[in-house]
Formats: sequence, C-alpha cells, structure tokens
Amino acid sequence: MSFEILGISSYVPKKVLTNYDLERIVDTSDQWITERTGIKERRIADENETTSDLAAKAALKLFEEISFNPSKIDAIVFATATPDNLIASTACSFQAKIGARKAFAFDISAACPGFLYGLKIADGLLRSDDIEYVLLAGAETLSRYVDWLDRTTCVLFGDGAGVALLKRSTSFNKRILSWNLGADGNLRDLLIMPAGGIAMPFSKNALDKRLCYIKMKGREVFKNAVLKMQNSVEDVIRKAKIKSSEIDWFVPHQANIRIIEALRERLGLPKDKVYVNINKYGNTSAASIPIALREMLDRKLVKKGQLVLMTSFGAGFTWGSILIRW
Ligand code: UT7
Repeated sequence: MSFEILGISSYVPKKVLTNYDLERIVDTSDQWITERTGIKERRIADENETTSDLAAKAALKLFEEISFNPSKIDAIVFATATPDNLIASTACSFQAKIGARKAFAFDISAACPGFLYGLKIADGLLRSDDIEYVLLAGAETLSRYVDWLDRTTCVLFGDGAGVALLKRSTSFNKRILSWNLGADGNLRDLLIMPAGGIAMPFSKNALDKRLCYIKMKGREVFKNAVLKMQNSVEDVIRKAKIKSSEIDWFVPHQANIRIIEALRERLGLPKDKVYVNINKYGNTSAASIPIALREMLDRKLVKKGQLVLMTSFGAGFTWGSILIRW
C-alpha cells in the first residue's frame, strides 16, 4: 500500500521585504545578509492574513488546477509553528476555508521539519483501507513571531505555505523508500519563543522583555543543523541501500545557504542536484520544502520515477529526512 501525489501547490504573500528594506529597520546590510545567509528577500503576510489563509490559497489553487472536489478529503494534517490560535487548531480553520467537510483535521508542531513529519504521518494514515485522500499542509506566518528589533533573527524568516494532496494507491509498493525522523528536547532552548504558551503566558512583562518573539543562538543552531541533517540523510541513504550518486534531487530545508552548502559537500552531491530558492523566500519553516517542490514541478525539473531526498532541521530540536520515488 502506498500513495500517489495528486498535486503540490504553494502560496506566498504578495508583499516583498528586501534586504535593502531591512537596512532601514535594523543595523544590517544587504551584503551581510547575502553573504551570511544567501537571502535577498522574503514575503510578509498582510496584517489580516493568517497561516490558515495562506494554506487555503495554496489548496484552492490546487483544487482548481486538477479539478478536485475537497469534500472527498478524509484527513488534513497541518504542520505549523505559527498557528492562527493556540486553541482551536489551524487545521480546523483551514478545513472550513477549503470546504473539506468530511475531513478530520489536526495540527502537528514540529517546526521546520513539520512537512516531513506530516508526510510520514500521512503515509501511515493512507495505509488504512478507509482513508483515501489526505491533504498535507506546511504553512507559517513567522513575521508575527519575529522580533523586528533583533537583527540576528529578523532578517532570516519569511511567510508562506505549501500543500500536497495524497491519494491511497496500490499501484506500487512503496512511495517512501526510507525515512529518518528525530528530536532532541534537551537542546530546545537554543531556538525558542519563550512566552505565549502555558510555561509563560503572554503578559506585559513578557512583552517588555521581548520574550514573545523567536530567540535563537544562531551559531549553535547552525552547527547542530549541519550535523543532524548529515546523519539523518546518511541513515536514509543506508536504509534505502542506494548510493548518494543515485539521488536525482536533494531538497534541503532553506534556512541558510551556508548550511545547504556544508551539507552538500559532506554528502558529496553535485550542485546541480541541490534545489535552492532561499534567496527569494528566506526561511519559511514548515512551508520551505513544499514551496521548493512546487517550483521544481513548475520548472519541470522532477520527473516520474526519480529519487527525491528531502531533509530538514528546526526548533525542538527536530530533524528528518525522507527519500521518495516520485
Ligand atoms: O530553521 C531553523 C534552523 N535555523 C537555522 O538553521 C539558522 C542557523 N544559524 C544561522 O543561519 C547563522 O548562525 C546566522 C545567519 C543566524 C548568523 O550567522 P553567523 O555567521 O553564525 O553570525 P554570528 O551569529 O556568528 O554573528 C557574527 C557577527 C556578530 O557580530 P560580532 O559579535 O562579530 O561583532 C553579529 O552581531 O554578525 C553580527 N550580526 C549581524 N550583522 C549585520 C548578526 N546578525 C547580523 C545582521 N546584520 N543581520
């Protein structure tokens, strides 16, 4: 039992924030951001646009493209670290907005690898006889959690959404050839939004101390990201019993071009097999991989039967890699 990918779609907000715009907000420069991260610009949601809105725009575009009736969807798996509300789930807002009346719907909180965690969960759901269609979303409105006074983080993130519509299939045995998902909660303080949850509810004090925003120890996160993704990818390659030279496309989480480059070198992959679009969107967390996949499909880069290896790392820490045959 496996699944078909009926379609992948993405949406990014219209508003573009360039590095030059950021030069007017914090003490930074286009040169520093470009050299240290590879980012040139990112998208920012409108004031009244939420995470479920971004995902709904991506999904409705897909339904129109492939003439799909959303009332057929059995389950919605929604990966986000920036939910519309803490209660109720963003998946439920999304379900209502796309008219997926029949679907049960839930959020997963796994930060940047959320789409990969979600893919593994969706694969499990689709092994059951009575679930035929799963809609997987990865969407974020990180601009609301970013501290626009903190130059070490505000230049990195962007908003966006991606969705994948999956259908149960018996046509071939395995879509996911191998996977590796991991977490290490001992390191969670290195990348965290301290206030806003039960541990430290929103308060004037939390706001004054700017604890309601993302805090990151960049250098430590960088080192862990490279190491954990490298180990994770190597595990996936080993389990699939393939050589890294057999991989057709490597689609890494887009957090920093230097992380991608370090990984590429350690894994011995040629540049033309690694998909990079960080220059346009920055780090969109759980949306980063589906946005990249949609661009690759639009550019007719990925072909049926090819081996596509995706990897990601984020807050938690969480990480993961999945190898699929397209
Ligand atoms: O998706 C979740 C995973 N997230 C990541 O993977 C992010 C991982 N970390 C990174 O990408 C990098 O660590 C950063 C891009 C965040 C920072 O790059 P870095 O090369 O590690 O810089 P750094 O933190 O070592 O800072 C170097 C210098 C510092 O100045 P001093 O102390 O040397 O005087 C910073 O204050 O750069 C300064 N700096 C900046 N300068 C201009 C930090 N941010 C900026 C900025 N503009 N925006």
